[in-house]
Amino acid sequence: MSKPVRIGLLGRGTVGGAFHELVAERADEVAAVAGRRPEVNGVLRRSEGDFDGILAGSDIVIELIGGTDPARDYVLRALRAGRHVVSANKQLIAQHGDELFAAAREAGVQLRFEAAVAGVVPVIRVIQESLAATEITKVFGIVNGTTNFILSEMASTGAGYEETLRRAQELGYAEADPTDDVNGADAAAKMAILARLAFHSPVGLGDVAFEGITEIQPDDIAYAKELGLSLKLLGVAERVEGGISVRVFPCFLYRGHPLAPVEGPFNAVMVEAPTITEITMSGPGAGGTETATAVLGDVVSIISGKAPVHEVRERLEIVRDISSSFYLHLEVADRPGVLAQIADVLGRNEVSVRSVVQRGHGDDARLVMVMHEGPEARFRAALEEIAVLDFLRAAPRAIRVIEEEFV
Ligand SMILES: NC(=O)c1ccc[n+]([C@@H]2O[C@H](COP(=O)([O-])OP(=O)(O)OC[C@H]3O[C@@H](n4cnc5c(N)ncnc54)[C@H](OP(=O)(O)O)[C@@H]3O)[C@@H](O)[C@H]2O)c1
Repeated sequence: MSKPVRIGLLGRGTVGGAFHELVAERADEVAAVAGRRPEVNGVLRRSEGDFDGILAGSDIVIELIGGTDPARDYVLRALRAGRHVVSANKQLIAQHGDELFAAAREAGVQLRFEAAVAGVVPVIRVIQESLAATEITKVFGIVNGTTNFILSEMASTGAGYEETLRRAQELGYAEADPTDDVNGADAAAKMAILARLAFHSPVGLGDVAFEGITEIQPDDIAYAKELGLSLKLLGVAERVEGGISVRVFPCFLYRGHPLAPVEGPFNAVMVEAPTITEITMSGPGAGGTETATAVLGDVVSIISGKAPVHEVRERLEIVRDISSSFYLHLEVADRPGVLAQIADVLGRNEVSVRSVVQRGHGDDARLVMVMHEGPEARFRAALEEIAVLDFLRAAPRAIRVIEEEFV
């Protein structure tokens, strides 16, 4: 029987604890499929363990601390010491990918991070391995379970954002400090990683334009429902003319879109390429055991000796002004000529309207419109003009819409 593979475990919290138990439970299965048994040889926590000792006694280092400090230092030291590393840390990979990949390459070891994006959904493996020889044109999806849970709840209960966030916290779907989830930063880190791998370009967190869900009002969701739309926080990384665009934004999807029925804390990622049309992968994006399962999958791959190569081919230009379709919610005074004036502003800015819903009268009239796709700059110019019209009773609210309808 070959010698066990020694694992140094950095962090033993939600994921680290579940991973530790899973390794003990599944060691025989790993040995059966990969040829060697994994064994946790040392654990580092704030209150326990010594990094140098753990490093000396391990073949693979698993980083499940989170954040970038001290995780970056530990991971770099492990790679430079010739250890394979597995991490579930999206911020670490998104912010320090360049130096970490370089360190892994120089030392001839593997750096794996399947759990860093969409939990146990094997999107990294599919992009880096199954589709390694495919020209991916677009990767997009729901990569933050907290915000998807909040938006699903708001749609089904009609409750407001703050109230729904508190419920998500009570149920364990949102952290005590939910800032990075609700402002889109967490999803932005994941999209930077997906874009880097899909397009072989050194995309970092700073290249991702992101917006969150904190400004979403329950009546936006209710009106959109009437138009057959459901609201999601989407991450989109795509090839566009002149380079690539990587963004995170709340947006409406038409019924029939593969991502529209993804509810609650689930994640789902779609990949498009001319040779594959499109594929959709979905499943739990978080959870101790689920995430630990993805980490163990990386350990199996390392023991089996399969090494994905992350190679930067060229630095693609980040394009910021792209084409989008918008939903526009206006609270207006109900008087003759309002619709005509708005239509005039939109027409002059070459923004064309796809559908309109009009509600209420007197001081509580609402005009909800969905535009056809066009350059964002033109829509923004029209919005600036509309915002100062004297019959407007509140600031206009605009949310992107994905026009694509799948049948
Ligand atoms: N939770 C999820 O569902 C999930 C899903 C996907 C990815 N992830 C990622 O997985 C990683 C771990 O998340 P988690 O939820 O398991 O975190 P967690 O429950 O907060 O656990 C963190 C662990 O790291 C240890 N630690 C923190 N600071 C340390 C330091 N300076 N030195 C040594 N140890 C330190 C903690 O030590 P103590 O035990 O002493 O406090 C704890 O054991 C993060 O990168 C996260 O983004 C988590």
